[in-house]
Amino acid sequence: MGFGGGEHLAEQAAANPDIGFIGCEPFINGVANLLQHVEAKDLSGNIRICPDDARPILDALPEASVGRVFVLFADPWPKLRHAERRFIGPANLPRLARVLKDGAELRLATDDQQLCRWMLEHAWRYPDFEWLADKAADWRVPPADWVQTRYEQKALEAGRVPVYLRFRRRDR
Ligand SMILES: C[S@@+](CC[C@H](N)C(=O)[O-])C[C@H]1O[C@@H](n2cnc3c(N)ncnc32)[C@H](O)[C@@H]1O
Repeated sequence: MGFGGGEHLAEQAAANPDIGFIGCEPFINGVANLLQHVEAKDLSGNIRICPDDARPILDALPEASVGRVFVLFADPWPKLRHAERRFIGPANLPRLARVLKDGAELRLATDDQQLCRWMLEHAWRYPDFEWLADKAADWRVPPADWVQTRYEQKALEAGRVPVYLRFRRRDR
């Protein structure tokens, strides 16, 4: 959801040719960038692009049909009066829980401390999700198959420390 320049999505699709990926991104330059990766790496077989808001796609997908959702470096919407626009929150967690299969992963990352607290508070409290972290280091270390994007590189150069949050969709 919100693949930005598409670097992460393209690498994931290239590394997993037997898995189908759906990428949503309303920012047209990001879509153009992803299309370059799709062409260069010949990924048209397992990537489908929705050049738009992810929410209608989530609502259109069948229940328990998705093996993993990535919401990486979502817009932080720092002002409290805009908090309801943050992608991970009360409006979208039920959508995500509906489409994810039992045991599937909801993978989140952010370089914004306030958004980190917000996402943790909401996803951790949401009964369908279980936070997959045993110790503090777990959320400082990217998952093994991680692909760094330009957005993340810029955050690191600016001294912001990314966090990586993995949740498991509980069994129905
Ligand atoms: C800060 S960028 C991060 C991009 C990318 N995920 C990365 O890690 O490099 C957030 C992206 O989410 C997209 N976005 C925001 N709201 C969205 C929504 N409702 N559905 C799909 N994409 C969305 C924005 O257009 C933007 O490109």
